[in-house]
Amino acid sequence: MRKIYLLLGLIICTGTSVLQAQTQIPEVEELLEKMTLEEKIGQLNLLTPGGGVATGSVVSEDVETKIKAGNVGGVFGVSSPAKVRQAQELAVKNSRLGIPLLIGSDVIHGYKTTFPIPLGISASWDMELIKQTAQVAAKEATADGINWNFSPMVDIARDPRWGRVAEGAGEDPYLGAQVAKAMVEGYQGEDLSQPHTMLSTVKHMALYGAAEGGRDYNSVDMSKIRMYNQYLPPYKAAVDAGVSSVMTSFNDIHGVPASGNKWLLTDLLREEWGFEGFVVSDYTSVNEMIAHGMGDLQAVSALAINAGLDMDMVGEGFLTTLKKSVEEGMVSEETITTAARRILEAKHKLGLLDDPYRYSDESRPEKDILTDENRELARKVAARAAVLLKKDAGVLPLKENANIALIGPLANDQRNMLGTWAPTGDFKLSIPVLEGIKNVMPHAKVTYAKGANISDDAQFAENVNALGPRIIISEESPEDLLEEALEVANAADVIVAVVGEASEMSGESSNRTDIRIPESQKKLIRELAATGRPVVLVLMSGRPLDISEEMQLPVDILQVWHPGVEAGNAIADLLVGNYNPSGKLTMSWPHSVGQIPVYYSMKTTGRPGPSDTEFQKFKSNYLDAPNSALLPFGYGLSYTEFEYSEASVNEESISGDESLTISVEVTNTGDHDGEEVVQLYTHDKVRSITPPGKELKAFKKISLKKGESKTVEFEISREDLKFYNADLKYVVEPGEFEFFVAGTSNHEFTGSFEVTE
Ligand code: BGC
Repeated sequence: MRKIYLLLGLIICTGTSVLQAQTQIPEVEELLEKMTLEEKIGQLNLLTPGGGVATGSVVSEDVETKIKAGNVGGVFGVSSPAKVRQAQELAVKNSRLGIPLLIGSDVIHGYKTTFPIPLGISASWDMELIKQTAQVAAKEATADGINWNFSPMVDIARDPRWGRVAEGAGEDPYLGAQVAKAMVEGYQGEDLSQPHTMLSTVKHMALYGAAEGGRDYNSVDMSKIRMYNQYLPPYKAAVDAGVSSVMTSFNDIHGVPASGNKWLLTDLLREEWGFEGFVVSDYTSVNEMIAHGMGDLQAVSALAINAGLDMDMVGEGFLTTLKKSVEEGMVSEETITTAARRILEAKHKLGLLDDPYRYSDESRPEKDILTDENRELARKVAARAAVLLKKDAGVLPLKENANIALIGPLANDQRNMLGTWAPTGDFKLSIPVLEGIKNVMPHAKVTYAKGANISDDAQFAENVNALGPRIIISEESPEDLLEEALEVANAADVIVAVVGEASEMSGESSNRTDIRIPESQKKLIRELAATGRPVVLVLMSGRPLDISEEMQLPVDILQVWHPGVEAGNAIADLLVGNYNPSGKLTMSWPHSVGQIPVYYSMKTTGRPGPSDTEFQKFKSNYLDAPNSALLPFGYGLSYTEFEYSEASVNEESISGDESLTISVEVTNTGDHDGEEVVQLYTHDKVRSITPPGKELKAFKKISLKKGESKTVEFEISREDLKFYNADLKYVVEPGEFEFFVAGTSNHEFTGSFEVTE
């Protein structure tokens, strides 16, 4: 392969924007020389023949003919080495220039070895582990012919009504940026021409998580100060980590939909951040600009390409209108060439221009997919994603020979274990909780009863079941289900109730205005608690729930999200204490929907109340709820107890490029070995723009044997304390910073230091 790159170093000035020509690749330039305008436009067209999940109303037609005609740059929804080879042959052997295809897919939380939903994975706060999940996903997906992944989704999410919170890493920009980096590095590795790595796409640029009312695809309106400080950092971290492509979001930003937003796609992404890869639209998001009110198909397609969008997913607006727009002078041929160049460069990076069949190795699926090792990792991650929310029954971990009543609509379920956006997984391979307990606790006695439907509401179930049955309403009456469950419960020593959301109660286009556990199950939980037997709630969901009622009950609550293919084994590992829960929430859980948005870094306002729980007239508070979350960001218990010393700082002040060290001693004072996520938060006391009440600045996950102590140190420099000011300059301003170190975000500040000029 030729590796000599030509640096043109050419500076082209266009109006106010300055575009620096990138390093050019001779093979790509040679191809571009030969290409007609139509062939260049063909490279910008991404289609799906169906087979995956069609999330829009369109599935592409006549894909084969279009590939042969050189009208397609990539496809998604095609997998297996044989099918991918076939698709590549259509392009390579039939189209005039024989340019191979990008083969895309949504590999969101594992390929066939499904890991927990991303929100769950993020709760592990373990970046090495997160990177490993992406590596395994890349290895499996590439073995099956995929070379381009539509992941990670890094949209900051502070509204749990929005179903897609399940797909991201929660509410915090700092943590979100770490996760973004780990995932991009995991998918792409160090060399994209290696057969085990694939292109990664950061999505959805930008601000998709701030959709009004938590309703998917809805409008977003946000100040640049908030955007830069709170919402953009994870996308930028992905770009800094070398992500190959960026997917636009469905929402508008400052009144212009992301897919046609030049400020976003060119000024910010390319000129400010230096992004050199390609930008792909989301599913028909170019066409959707018609409904947004931006003009007809020709106008919106021209708007998109002129804004900096390179590839059009499914909508075919580029394919059908761009030539005309060039002829009419609405789009320059140079703009089309630039976009085509970016797509060809991605193909070059993958090594596809040298060998179009490098992802069509028939021997790989068997060796690389769903191996014991991969499943073992899925089990490990599912256990580390779990968050112990409450331990009032004090019954965890269970005894190996416990007499268990295993109850609940998710206790012996396979259809909901994988979670949302797992189209490449096979639910039939997932381990139900009942089976997992039998595998892991052979000396236990387990009796199962369903106890309740996930929901009794037939219309709600029909909406949830749009992609296939997730909520199956039993033929038995709710009364009979309950009675049977109580009988089983009363004959056992401990009740384990597996309850919560079906997988498609969260995810794309699965928004809820009521985020409580459905009433059918709440009733079951109340009745089980009333038996007086110890109750463990194993809670599954794709989002933070309002569990204020359940938090009042004397139960243990273990949040396991949708745990993935190894669900049952991982949950049993947790129940019996083979793994001691160490997950921490990455999104705050509200007291009620009325509190939303609620997040730990909220500003203090000019009228903070006397305390979070005490109401005072004419202060910024509610009559009927505290300001802070029921369960805050960073929160999570363990079977053991951790005690923190007061954190100390080695310097009273820093200037220039100095740094300081904040240290704390953490001791495991309980009866079990365990892991703890030690978190450092700061508060910038005086700023030229109002600061967040607190900000996560660093964290470390440590492991402590019972009785053991460790000193944890965080080095903080001025760089770590920077923020975007009103002029969007990234600065640190002199003044006092308060800090604390704890195992949750909900803590008082205990120390301070000064930053001087
Ligand atoms: C989703 C994207 C996804 C795409 C392709 C869209 O509906 O918003 O996240 O990558 O479909 O499947």
